[in-house]
Amino acid sequence: MKEQLEKIRSLAAEAISRAADEQTLEEARIRFLGKKGELTAILRGMGNVPPEERPTVGALVNTVRTHIEEALHERFEQLKASSMERKLRAETIDVTLPAPEKRVGRLHPITQTRNRMAEIFTGMGFEIAEGPEVESSYNNFDALNAPADHPSRDETDTFYFSEQVLLRTQTSPVQIRAMVGKTPPIRIISPGRVYRNDVADATHSPMFHQCEGLVIDKGITMGDLKGTLDAFAKAMFGERTRIRFRPHNFPFTEPSAEVDVSCFVCGGKGCRLCKGEGWIEILGAGMVHPNVLRAGGIDPEVYSGFAFGMGIERVAMTMYGIDDLRLMFENDARFLGQF
Ligand code: DAH
Repeated sequence: MKEQLEKIRSLAAEAISRAADEQTLEEARIRFLGKKGELTAILRGMGNVPPEERPTVGALVNTVRTHIEEALHERFEQLKASSMERKLRAETIDVTLPAPEKRVGRLHPITQTRNRMAEIFTGMGFEIAEGPEVESSYNNFDALNAPADHPSRDETDTFYFSEQVLLRTQTSPVQIRAMVGKTPPIRIISPGRVYRNDVADATHSPMFHQCEGLVIDKGITMGDLKGTLDAFAKAMFGERTRIRFRPHNFPFTEPSAEVDVSCFVCGGKGCRLCKGEGWIEILGAGMVHPNVLRAGGIDPEVYSGFAFGMGIERVAMTMYGIDDLRLMFENDARFLGQF
């Protein structure tokens, strides 16, 4: 009997230490301690043990049972610990790995340029006025004193919905909207989209952006126009920038001028950016024509004003050194990411 118990003990010890997972360990428990287990069988056979030996054998059975239970418990704890360790190792996160790059968006160069213009002019007391892109031909042409035979009215140049309705070809109709029903002083700029029936190339696009400006008050002179544009040019292109007026003709201003800024790369000596000129044309301007004031419901005997209009793409392309207008509208992130 004793040898048999000793054998069970060593068999159990071996089976338990060999159990590689919780299930095998449970099988070992059933094999030795279960209802039909080997140790249980011995207890059942106690009836055959002579009475005087029963206490000793009984004590021995208990000792063996305790040993087996302890071994089971110990092995169970070991398995649990090592499976936890395996899991931890499998699920490690290397916090020193570089994080996936987050791409940060930015404003389109046209928007950046527009915002800077708006900032400069609002800083001088201008308000931002808006007008619709679908405009009446009256506001776009007639009220702006464009003669009936002005070439820009032609269908080959302008997108018409009907004779009276078109896609505005300039931001100048906002001048009319800013005057009608209002009493001067008026000080507005109006940035926005304009449309022309042009085929896209390096310098043309059927849609582009302009920024209009209008100031009306008593006693406004060409000196005010020059001072305002000079301050704008210095803020936009740098303190050293000078401006130059060249006589021109626009239907809505008299006198009219085209305005150049001294090249901010060479300072006026002539370089690649200004094509050797030393000057870069940025806008058209002039004193608001009396007919335009009248169309806006303002008495030209009492008030005078100046207006200007500049191409936002042209300014952006000059500042950033962009040589093809089409790049602005292709939405190529490699291009846009540079500004
Ligand atoms: N509307 C003109 C254009 O599209 C630009 C312009 C010139 C606007 C002179 C003005 C101005 O307000 O006074 O070419």
